Amino acid sequence: MKDPLLFTPGPLTTSATVKAAMQRDIGSRDADFIELVAGIRSELLRIAGVSREQGYETVLMQGSGTFGLESVISSVVPRQGRFVVLANGAYGERMATIAERLGISTRLACWPENESPQPAAVQRLIEEEPGATHVAMVHCETTTGILNPVDEIARIVKAGDREFIVDAMSSFGGVSLDLSKLEIDYLISSPNKCLESVPGFSFVLARRQALEATKGRARSVSLDLLAQWEALEGNGQFRFTPPTHALLAFARALEELSEEGGVSARVARYRANHETLRRGMHRLGFVECLPAERQSDIIMAFRYPDNPNFRFEDFYRRLRAHGFLIYPGKLSQSDCFRIGTIGRINEDDLGDLIAAIGEVLDEIRR
Ligand SMILES: Cc1ncc(COP(=O)(O)O)c(C=O)c1O
Repeated sequence: MKDPLLFTPGPLTTSATVKAAMQRDIGSRDADFIELVAGIRSELLRIAGVSREQGYETVLMQGSGTFGLESVISSVVPRQGRFVVLANGAYGERMATIAERLGISTRLACWPENESPQPAAVQRLIEEEPGATHVAMVHCETTTGILNPVDEIARIVKAGDREFIVDAMSSFGGVSLDLSKLEIDYLISSPNKCLESVPGFSFVLARRQALEATKGRARSVSLDLLAQWEALEGNGQFRFTPPTHALLAFARALEELSEEGGVSARVARYRANHETLRRGMHRLGFVECLPAERQSDIIMAFRYPDNPNFRFEDFYRRLRAHGFLIYPGKLSQSDCFRIGTIGRINEDDLGDLIAAIGEVLDEIRR
């Protein structure tokens, strides 16, 4: 049976060729594998618009995106440090949860889910927190799909001489971002979002100077960011069993990004996907949760329709029968569901999804 199309924020629909790239067995200590890993690490820097000569490094870390975040938070904040999180959704809050669990002195500053952290308020917050060593925020908060102003906030954080950590899980590769123009010390992302590969690891783009200064800070063995980087630099290998098949898939996915025309072409495809979704859902009477000017092209949250017969589980099941998977909501205050526009999907797929949603609404009304 054909797999359904995934309109989710990841894992998402990948190309047949990315899936096919996993049909190999590769030795984790072999020269072929070492070359594969080195190629991936430098390609990620290239996509971010930086190079090793400019002082940036890539660290690949086993586990999902959260493991990458936990690796950074547990490895870079010093024992006497303080961690400030600027949050406007569940993923921002998760960074604070990680830090608190690790016993790190943490301040969680929250904004409403439909608003971004305001630069003036962040400025005041930083002034109020002279002991804060690290500030973190999410680029695209996948809870709603809101795009946060990382560039403005980065300037404020760095002017205050703090290190800046950005969760770019659902934006890297799908939103234009030039790391050389942004003062970010650690950016964390995942292969199974806008880079359109399969899950299995995360990656961290780090400023080498910041990373090298973290000696002795790690609170975990397996998630030790500096040790992982030193191993990758030393013999080109992972310290512990690497997700070899996921790395093979990722190398192919990076080639496909380049074949598509790079990040700018992908951004354009996601924009077209988003526009098709937005227009189609409006035609069907749905209302989105975010104001248009803050909405990313990655994922959209919609309020439940004003229909007493609407049950999300039923709506989901019926759409699944049409071959489409959507995503439940994550907002704390209102009932919503989400539709992702990333992955190996295009405007036609979104058009098909809208047609199916229209049919399902008719079925529910009957
Ligand atoms: C912004 C953001 N941060 C963190 C995560 C967590 O990633 P994972 O589920 O791969 O651990 C996600 C997942 O969707 C995300 O969108």
